[in-house]
Amino acid sequence: MVKILVCYYSRSGTTERMAREIVRGMEDSGLEGEIDIRRVEDTDMDSLPGYDAIVLGSPTYYGLPSGKMKLFLDESVIHHGKLDGKVGGAFASSANPAGGNETTVIAILEALLIHGMVVKGDSKGDHYGPVVIGKPDDGELERCRVYGKRMMKFTKQLRENFSRR
Ligand SMILES: Cc1cc2nc3c(=O)[nH]c(=O)nc-3n(C[C@H](O)[C@H](O)[C@H](O)COP(=O)(O)O)c2cc1C
Repeated sequence: MVKILVCYYSRSGTTERMAREIVRGMEDSGLEGEIDIRRVEDTDMDSLPGYDAIVLGSPTYYGLPSGKMKLFLDESVIHHGKLDGKVGGAFASSANPAGGNETTVIAILEALLIHGMVVKGDSKGDHYGPVVIGKPDDGELERCRVYGKRMMKFTKQLRENFSRR
């Protein structure tokens, strides 16, 4: 059984809604797993090495993750080297279509790659990770659920592969 953390910062609720839809997709995947959804402020840093996958979400603030998410990433240095080989993912919301949501996703993924984590892109839809612009519409929420399913499946595949070696 895989264990996944979906951790987000959200001030006005949009990124939180995305996190909930991603978790819904994971739960609807039909695969067995334990999924924890936490606000970044309530996430126990010591718990990170216990997860097979860590998915982080943030609003776009000046084209980058919010300060609280950046602080979380900076403080994750206590686990440097211990998250190697785990699955990483990111999602973001923004007010404007070209408001920097992709640069926010990429900034989070850069940090996760430095941790040695494995990132999966998507040849269709949201290539780097799901994004929402303004109030989420049905299509954006559906893409969050699809992403959740993909992350669940990939985490399971990767874990099974590693444990066979
Ligand atoms: C300090 C601050 C900076 C922001 N910077 C941007 C930005 O650069 N580009 C953008 O499109 N939206 C920007 N926004 C809007 C938020 O990214 C957007 O409203 C987001 O969906 C809020 O997420 P939340 O509801 O989860 O808090 C900014 C908002 C704040 C408060």
